[in-house]
Amino acid sequence: MALELNIEEQELLADTLERAHSGMGPRERLAEFLGVVTFAGAVAALWITHPPHAFSILPAALCTAVLALAALVRFETPFGFTVPTQLAFVPLLFSMPLALTPLATLVALMLSRLPEVFAGRGPASRLVNTAGNARFALGPVAVFAIAGVSPARADVGLLVLALLAQFAVDLAGSCLSDAIGRGASLKAQLRETWVYGVDAALAAVALEVAKNIHTSPAAALSLVPLLGLFALFARERHERLESLLELNRAYHGTALVLGDVVEADDGYTGEHSRSVVGLALALATRLGLDAECRRNVEFAALLHDVGKIAIPKEVIRKPEPLNPEEWTVIKTHTLEGQKMLDRVGGFMRDVGRIVRSHHERWDGTGYPDGLAGEAIPLEARIIACCDTWNAMRTDRPYRKAIPHDLALQEMESVSGSQLDPGVVRVLVELVASDEENERQLSVQRLGQVSPQVPGILQPDTEAQEPRGDALGLPAGPGLDRGGDPTQAGGVLDQVQ
Ligand SMILES: [Fe+2]
Repeated sequence: MALELNIEEQELLADTLERAHSGMGPRERLAEFLGVVTFAGAVAALWITHPPHAFSILPAALCTAVLALAALVRFETPFGFTVPTQLAFVPLLFSMPLALTPLATLVALMLSRLPEVFAGRGPASRLVNTAGNARFALGPVAVFAIAGVSPARADVGLLVLALLAQFAVDLAGSCLSDAIGRGASLKAQLRETWVYGVDAALAAVALEVAKNIHTSPAAALSLVPLLGLFALFARERHERLESLLELNRAYHGTALVLGDVVEADDGYTGEHSRSVVGLALALATRLGLDAECRRNVEFAALLHDVGKIAIPKEVIRKPEPLNPEEWTVIKTHTLEGQKMLDRVGGFMRDVGRIVRSHHERWDGTGYPDGLAGEAIPLEARIIACCDTWNAMRTDRPYRKAIPHDLALQEMESVSGSQLDPGVVRVLVELVASDEENERQLSVQRLGQVSPQVPGILQPDTEAQEPRGDALGLPAGPGLDRGGDPTQAGGVLDQVQ
């Protein structure tokens, strides 16, 4: 059971925990309705073809009760939870007629849900989920019914086949249900198939109890101490996962606060950074970056100039061109930014590495490390492109934004020298055909990648300043004072 969940799994887990305490949406209701109909149809067919015969109540009742206990022990997973029910299900299968097994499984799972319903920790409507959760019982029952052999008389081959049928029915049902109810991808769901390895291991132990269930019904109770041990592990896992989610929420919160600090420290830098976020995210998505990288791009876009907080204000706000010594100072904002984010820790260290490199240039003439080409982190190349584009395309009080077509030409002119040509090409595709689309990108809100973080960005109403010396534009106050004299290369600079 992996504790190191990736960002998609963390989001799924947060969503799963949230859903457990809320009612079902229309898609979930549809998925569960299909689950109930399928389950009821299969049970009806079983009753018609294999009507239940007389059986001993005590072993069946004890196995059902132990199954209910086992279902209380929940190991949370991104799509829900897994339970050690295999321990009790195998004896249950041996203890009663085939036609009753799915129903007894359903009753046990419902019993396990009642405490949380009565305690108000979960809506009663979620009891309907138990039909879907009990579907795993249909697989082995169908195998024994078709073979015409009771579980107690089955040979090893048939038992293995029954186990495989259980996994197949459960996996197919879960995939379909989560695809309909939550739009979950098959790939994401297949990552949870490790639970069947655990079930297979438990089945071997359970089989020993099952073989003696009619001669010693109390043997079912021997599983209870083991379930108690599992319950301790499950509780520990729950607490560790809760802590993991809480910690990541804290990292997100810290990033947002730092974004506010940047803006409070220098409104120009803050607004510019926020307006780069939407475009950078769209670009990262178009380039096919995974969720974790997109999350890092999102926060690196917001915080790429956080290090300016450490730069003396007389340098930051100097209206005249900077001298070489002052440029040396201002360039340290990349390193200062990384230091700050390193202190936050967690995934912000990864964001810090991007922040460090956002002034590197494709031809190797950037800073602080003089990296070139693909040695520069892709996320940093994305930030550099968006930083440059946004600086050109926004108004300042003393001049209008550079026209769309002219800005496109300028991007092309620095492609391959200052900026990654591959990233520029995609950015141009993204904004070239549709100025309205570009405007929309600039106002997209933070939190797209991480739904648990509420979006806080406001439309980009503050003007930005490009370093457009070649365009004959007047240099404005603040940070925009013409090209860095120590830099060679492109005619356009990002906002420094
Ligand atoms: Fe910067």
